[in-house]
Amino acid sequence: MTSRIQPLALDLAGRTALVTGAASGIGRACALRLAAAGARVRAVDRDAPGLAGLAEEARDLAGAVVPHVLDLTDLDAAEAAAAGTDVLVNNAGLQLVRPIEEFPPDVFHTVLTVMLEAPFRLVRGALPHMYGQGWGRIVNVSSVHGLRASAFKSAYVAAKHGLEGLSKTAALEGAAHGVTSNCVNPAYVRTPLVEKQIADQAAAHGIPEERVLAEVLLKDSALRRLLEPEEVAEAVAYLCSP
Ligand SMILES: NC(=O)c1ccc[n+]([C@@H]2O[C@H](COP(=O)([O-])OP(=O)(O)OC[C@H]3O[C@@H](n4cnc5c(N)ncnc54)[C@H](O)[C@@H]3O)[C@@H](O)[C@H]2O)c1
Repeated sequence: MTSRIQPLALDLAGRTALVTGAASGIGRACALRLAAAGARVRAVDRDAPGLAGLAEEARDLAGAVVPHVLDLTDLDAAEAAAAGTDVLVNNAGLQLVRPIEEFPPDVFHTVLTVMLEAPFRLVRGALPHMYGQGWGRIVNVSSVHGLRASAFKSAYVAAKHGLEGLSKTAALEGAAHGVTSNCVNPAYVRTPLVEKQIADQAAAHGIPEERVLAEVLLKDSALRRLLEPEEVAEAVAYLCSP
């Protein structure tokens, strides 16, 4: 699938990047892409074995991947981890598919904490260094669900819509300091998060898993295929370019 991608010439040598949710899926692809561009990547995730595997995979790249095991619900630690970064990719996320009246309030709180409040704290931690040097790149991995809703995804849709607002505000405040802030809004990407959703959607809609992809997930998609994480990472790379 990487054959669909024509990598942009991107030189991040000497730059430090922080990618959240780097142990899996899109975050992993972003960490590898930025390290390939020469960045020293702080790879943040709560999944220590996943990060170790990533660091191993990145060994021969131009830059480096440095694992940073952290649960992003620890907001003070998240803010501290972002200090001194030139590039911030807010990517970590989780999903629960459940009607609102059955949606556990504690899960709603966790989703909002990881996917909206932690990005705010990470941006807050990163900006002093970015402003000080007059350059910074913030890329927020949002979703189609940052722009449109789907039934049964109240926390995720609310968090992504909030992330859009945070990103736009950071863009307005950062512009005068050479700091850009953008969202990428992928449709369904082939990652563990989506594989789990296929099972959840099958239960929610009462249909077999085999029918979920065609009849639910990709029903309204222009491209009738899952995207690959590397395709999203290339869009992220573009948003880190001059
Ligand atoms: N897969 C898709 O179809 C798709 C589409 C659009 C947007 N997105 C977004 O892309 C981002 C990455 O999704 P993915 O599909 O790669 O998911 P994934 O499940 O493969 O990876 C998510 C990563 O986030 C980490 N994470 C979750 N909670 C955490 C916490 N509290 N602290 C630290 N790390 C935590 C997980 O450990 C995991 O490594 C998410 O924000 C998601 O909403 C995904």
